[in-house]
Amino acid sequence: MKHGDLDSSLLRPDKKLDIHMAVDGADMSCTACHTTVNHRISGRYYTEPAPAKRELALPKDDGNRLACESCHGTRPHRKTAKLNDHADTVACQTCHIPHFARGGVPTKMWWDWSTAGRFAADGKMIVEKDERGMVTYHTMKGGMAWEEHVAPVYAWYDGRMSYVDLADTIDPATVVELNRPGGAYGDGSARIFPFKYYTGRQVYDAGDNQLVIPKLFGPKGSGAFWGGYDWQRAVEVGMAEAEEKFSGRIGFVDTAMYWPITHMVAPAQDALDCDACHAKEGRLAQLTGFYLPGRDRSPLVDRIGWLVVLATVIGVLIHGGGRWYAARRRGRR
Ligand code: HEC
Ligand code: HEC
Ligand code: HEC
Ligand code: HEC
Repeated sequence: MKHGDLDSSLLRPDKKLDIHMAVDGADMSCTACHTTVNHRISGRYYTEPAPAKRELALPKDDGNRLACESCHGTRPHRKTAKLNDHADTVACQTCHIPHFARGGVPTKMWWDWSTAGRFAADGKMIVEKDERGMVTYHTMKGGMAWEEHVAPVYAWYDGRMSYVDLADTIDPATVVELNRPGGAYGDGSARIFPFKYYTGRQVYDAGDNQLVIPKLFGPKGSGAFWGGYDWQRAVEVGMAEAEEKFSGRIGFVDTAMYWPITHMVAPAQDALDCDACHAKEGRLAQLTGFYLPGRDRSPLVDRIGWLVVLATVIGVLIHGGGRWYAARRRGRR
């Protein structure tokens, strides 16, 4: 499954997999959190900033957008109150979904289109599978990698996504991120959120450094990739049909996408510990640019540290000096 936090294991989950939808627990259905409007599942990822809905509200008052806070409020922790102080910087999902694809259904993490189109010596299609039976190579689709029990990657996120489009210039020397979570540390609306980081390799316009739309479906001779397994032709025809310009030169580029993770909430005791983040090589090691106690050395704190030492030393001197003075006074009496 593309999402990794939404798969067939959620049809009959236990509490360990999903505390809300567990058949031996609250047994919520999708519609407990999603009201469907016009047959679309409501989600707010791409339209409205996440924290905008962070006030306490009853589900029915919250329209078609339900956040964790709609039911739990912003200060749900009684035992460890310090956790509530994280509400402005860390999304609930970040601590409460320590891994996704936990239900025994592997999720696709990588898709390499560049190797598609290989055939066996006898001209037959090649299909290779791993020990779980997941397809790792298919003539029509190329290479794929599947994983279970995956730790998310984390990024600041304000609920808005931006996308690269056909007109944008890409840098083929880097991994081209096809979408990017909006927001940054300290902007007042972004929080750290968990994502599935889905990677791949796909055809692009190597002359103009732009993305392309290859034609995939079509009969032999139409130029469609699955009709002739020729990427050059598939891009020429695809771009012509889309009325987009194409330089005539193709290449392959590494890509990545961010998929927000919000289902498969684990029981409270499986949430991330303090030192999952507040440690040198913790989960937030890649998120730089702000001070995280336990992970970073802070020049300010270091300076305060020295001040304390200095003050202690001065204190000792004053104290010692005071004793000396008192002793002199006593001596004079
Ligand atoms: C405990 C509450 C809850 C349950 C139960 C739940 N969801 Fe969600 N779902 C959410 C939240 C919260 C979001 C994020 C919505 C937002 O930010 O507005 C979300 C987002 C989504 C999205 C959008 C994800 C994306 O990447 O755009 C889809 C699709 C979705 N849910 C489908 C489902 C399906 C299908 C089920 C049932 C198997 C389900 N949900 C059950 C809370 C829930
Ligand atoms: C529709 C209301 C609703 C929404 C939305 C909702 N929850 Fe819950 N949540 C509940 C209820 C009810 C329970 C109690 C389930 C049980 O005890 O079996 C619960 C239980 C939990 C627990 C388990 C507490 C324990 O004792 O183990 C956690 C953690 C949790 N929710 C986190 C979240 C997170 C994170 C989100 C957002 C992704 C969320 N909830 C969204 C209603 C909701
Ligand atoms: C920084 C990590 C972190 C964040 C952020 C976080 N939680 Fe928790 N949460 C935990 C841990 C750890 C526990 C279990 C230990 C405890 O309660 O002390 C827990 C416990 C809970 C419980 C059970 C509480 C109880 O007293 O029975 C609920 C419900 C819950 N969280 C919901 C949420 C919701 C909703 C959010 C977002 C507003 C959220 N959490 C944000 C780490 C976090
Ligand atoms: C998901 C990662 C994560 C987990 C788990 C986590 N923290 Fe934090 N913590 C953060 C982030 C991010 C900040 C905010 C840094 C900022 O705002 O500049 C922070 C800030 C803090 C701060 C300094 C700010 C303040 O509120 O005083 C303390 C203290 C703290 N956390 C204690 C804890 C404790 C105790 C636990 C476990 C009960 C915990 N954290 C669990 C990520 C985490």
